[in-house]
Amino acid sequence: MTHGLDNVTLGALVLVRDKMMVQQAAGRKVYRLEVGDTSFDVPVNIQQAITDALRQGKTHYPPSTGLPQLRKAMLHKVQTENRLPIKDDEHVLVTSGGMHALYMAFAALLEPGDEVILPDPMWSETAELIKRPGGVPVPITLRADQGFLYDPADIEAAITPQAKAIYINSPQNPIGVVFSEETQRQIAAIAVKHNLWVVSDEAYEHVIFDRQKHFSIGSIPEVADRTITAYTFSKTYAMTGLRLGYLATNDDLLVNRCRKLLRLTTNGVSSITQWGGVAAMTGPQDAVQEMVQELEARRNIFFPGIQTIKAFESFKPGGAFYVWSKISPEWRGYQGRRDSWAMTNYLIDQAGVGTSPGIAFGRAGEGYVRFAFTLDQQTLTESIDVMRDLFK
Ligand SMILES: Cc1ncc(COP(=O)(O)O)c(C=O)c1O
Repeated sequence: MTHGLDNVTLGALVLVRDKMMVQQAAGRKVYRLEVGDTSFDVPVNIQQAITDALRQGKTHYPPSTGLPQLRKAMLHKVQTENRLPIKDDEHVLVTSGGMHALYMAFAALLEPGDEVILPDPMWSETAELIKRPGGVPVPITLRADQGFLYDPADIEAAITPQAKAIYINSPQNPIGVVFSEETQRQIAAIAVKHNLWVVSDEAYEHVIFDRQKHFSIGSIPEVADRTITAYTFSKTYAMTGLRLGYLATNDDLLVNRCRKLLRLTTNGVSSITQWGGVAAMTGPQDAVQEMVQELEARRNIFFPGIQTIKAFESFKPGGAFYVWSKISPEWRGYQGRRDSWAMTNYLIDQAGVGTSPGIAFGRAGEGYVRFAFTLDQQTLTESIDVMRDLFK
């Protein structure tokens, strides 16, 4: 009998990265448009706080649920900014990034056979995290002709007696679609009607463009006590390598289970990273604003650029840092194939451009590729030129 972990596929993105590294090592100019990690440095006040914590010997075991100062800052932020009516800081738990927050949320919530409704395409790890405790992902196709909206009618139609939760991610990876407050209110009403939980992954809450405002589904009073919200410092503060995140829920039973999971997994996040987190949350937010403005400027270069390339039909993202592009039926293919892997390999082999094959994000992703616009403006402009040459 195979172990459950043997069926987990982490393959696609690693394969792309490895191919890109080989090209890079061979001295070729490459464009890493597959990387979901921005080119920014950690803001200076956070760097300083981490260095100070290290020098001051704040390097001993922190509580496994997180430093009290950090949990207080997180509570303040979710109450005031996200408008989540979280009771107190006992209901906010510090995790090793957003992935770990989601791991804990599903592990604490699900029992074998429980179904979780989620969008397809979706950040590939989500389905695997649902499967870990024996949960069953139930994908809802996001359709181009509907602007990739997470359709409440489709969600309701997918509910069975085994349904346990609805997963929502806005702004969404890989499409960059932002689910409107109205859609989220409709989803909340469905959750109440069918007695379901809501798991809200708000990893990209600050990476949102065109003066839109992020909306947190857990702020809706009717679902506030049946929502688990997951956050990360990775995208907002360019802290991907420092591994800091958190989750918030008012449910005592879930909090209690998560406390045990924290003790048994990370036993607490690195103390100096947490002191960096305190500085991030309590210090000035100018750097965040600057990063988001810069990302919007990058989108405003990359998206019109990719639209000029006939091989793709692209969706304009309202948030996150990805452009989701449909492969044109006119593209002649590569090595006898026309699928998302063929396009990915073609871009890497012929132009040194990295991308992620849509199939890596679920069945509905086939026929698409995802470009990340995390690199600087100059490199993005060059990457468009290179692709224009390739497809001319
Ligand atoms: C939708 C989504 N959720 C959560 C995460 C988790 O990020 P991290 O574990 O770096 O905090 C990511 C990372 O790319 C993501 O795209």
